[in-house]
Amino acid sequence: MKCTVIHGSPRRGNTWEVLNIAKDEMRKYGEFEFKDIELGKENIPHCNGCFLCIYKGEDKCPHREKINYIVKEIEDSDFIIITSPTYSMQVSGLLKTFIDHMSYNFHRPKFFKKKALVITTTAGAGHKASSKYIRDILYYWGFNFVEIMPIAYRAMVLSNKNVEKIKDISSRFSKNILSEKLNKPKIKYIFMYNLWRRFGEEPLEYGDADHRYWKNSGLSKHVYHPDINIGVWRGLVGKAAYNIVGMGDKK
Ligand SMILES: Cc1cc2nc3c(=O)[nH]c(=O)nc-3n(C[C@H](O)[C@H](O)[C@H](O)COP(=O)(O)O)c2cc1C
Repeated sequence: MKCTVIHGSPRRGNTWEVLNIAKDEMRKYGEFEFKDIELGKENIPHCNGCFLCIYKGEDKCPHREKINYIVKEIEDSDFIIITSPTYSMQVSGLLKTFIDHMSYNFHRPKFFKKKALVITTTAGAGHKASSKYIRDILYYWGFNFVEIMPIAYRAMVLSNKNVEKIKDISSRFSKNILSEKLNKPKIKYIFMYNLWRRFGEEPLEYGDADHRYWKNSGLSKHVYHPDINIGVWRGLVGKAAYNIVGMGDKK
């Protein structure tokens, strides 16, 4: 199985060490092939806020050559790993720059059958918040399952306790990947999905990228991706979210 690794540290330090322990552990469970993308080597400029990806399409982003190949790698992978050190209690600027370029995926979620492992490290604090932030973003982009691995070094070397934690999470994640089981997304992600689905019903004056996506993919007809069984309650919430936007239109 193919895994794209998006490494959000500018160096091969603590986060790289944790990543490699996780990879070694995962290899014990299956034939995983890892492709590393080190954001520190990619020289991705900051998002300049032009809105072209959102309104006209991601192929209009001025930095598309830097971003779209990473997206293609994710699409061609069975699952991904995203890593970040904690800087000032949050993800690195390097990773945030990548995430900003991917913002159009909130409007046009698509990674419905993908799973992800998030690795964050810190000296002492902020590792959990950073992991949870990345997990939330991935779910909004449509990811089916996200496991988090927040690691606090609290010393120059990794403690045995942390090594055990890394191995446990890697083992659990590997088994989940191999099971190929798809999960029901949480209600808040179904809700947001349907807001965007409704917003995409009509093309906007300044661009029709969302409209084209929802129509051309056929997703505009479904309360969630048809291959993901969301059950009755989530389906009702999705319909309600969709109709809430419609009510606003009528005022
Ligand atoms: C600019 C900067 C900001 C940091 N901010 C925090 C922080 O808010 N909280 C913390 O506990 N550690 C912080 N650290 C420590 C790193 O999160 C920690 O050493 C991390 O494991 C480094 O990962 P790396 O070796 O992969 O770069 C910071 C380090 C740097 C360089």
